[in-house]
Amino acid sequence: MIILAVESSCDETAVALVRDGRTVLADCIASSVEMHKLYGGVVPEIASRKHIEVISQLADQALAQAGLGRQDIDAVAVTYAPGLIGAVLVGVNFAKSVAYALGVPLIPVHHVRGHIAANYIAHPELEPPFVCLCVSGGTSLIVDVRGYTDMAILGATRDDAAGECFDKIARVMGLGYPGGAPLDRASQTGDDKAFSLPRVHIQDAPLDMSFSGLKTAMLNLIHNAQQKGEDLPVADLAASFSAAVSDELIPRTMAAARDLGYGKVAVVGGVAANSRIRRDLEAACRRDGCTLYLPPLKLCGDNGSMIGSQGYYEYLAGVRAGADLNAYANRDISLGYPGP
Ligand code: KG4
Repeated sequence: MIILAVESSCDETAVALVRDGRTVLADCIASSVEMHKLYGGVVPEIASRKHIEVISQLADQALAQAGLGRQDIDAVAVTYAPGLIGAVLVGVNFAKSVAYALGVPLIPVHHVRGHIAANYIAHPELEPPFVCLCVSGGTSLIVDVRGYTDMAILGATRDDAAGECFDKIARVMGLGYPGGAPLDRASQTGDDKAFSLPRVHIQDAPLDMSFSGLKTAMLNLIHNAQQKGEDLPVADLAASFSAAVSDELIPRTMAAARDLGYGKVAVVGGVAANSRIRRDLEAACRRDGCTLYLPPLKLCGDNGSMIGSQGYYEYLAGVRAGADLNAYANRDISLGYPGP
């Protein structure tokens, strides 16, 4: 079964063709990030307008890349939630039109479920159940992936997402936007114990996370130094910060894996590209005898292939949307498509 998959939840427009959930036939992506850099963050209206400009060409490109025609498309999958609402609406409308014109099923896909499915593409042997750490610009979740479409949230951030925190701190450190990757690079030569930063414990919710205290501590450090005209050692600061974020994420993920006893841990989302987080997870999984599933860097960020993969499993589970499919800015990953 060949699925045309559409993703437009933030500043990447992506269209992919995926066979049977695991084989990527084409993967085309366009990003408006260069425009958002001018403003130090994603400007929703600009993102939506860029999606509209490129989405049809990307679909044609994907078909050409795969050597397929429109008649070869068996279904259309699309991110319907969560995301910037105007941006998601562009993808939803486009997918709806294609499904209607071709007379094929329309499959709504939760964006974070898509991120989880990136691992099905990277690791053909991976099957649920497993524990998945989902960390991106808008999400920090520890998920019990009981089945391809059966998920429960074990832990969630109480405030900011990990990626958002990376981006904010990188911006005040003068590392540009989006800041996760440059901050990661800056941390490579730093001492991760140079600065003492807070670690959080939330009573009665040991798997929940919080990044606002860490963000405030970093902002205070930086602003105090600026007021005194002092230069902070960027590499040490970046390394100490990365270690604090990793300490927030990894012990909780491993505790969840131990509780459930699956022996399989996956990590997905843009922040999964972080070298400190990858290193710490590898060490923790080795120590606990768990198999670790990490997607390659190009599947960590937003892409269409992951939506095509999850779309296939949603299709097998009978999930379909009608012409009344709507877009949602927020949607619980465990609930699935609410239906028409
Ligand atoms: O998954 P993604 O591409 O988009 C969302 O759905 O949010 O994630 C983007 C986030 C941004 O916050 C970006 O700064 C962060 O992923 N990111 C990183 C790294 N590469 C990207 N954060 C830390 N270290 C990295 N190497």
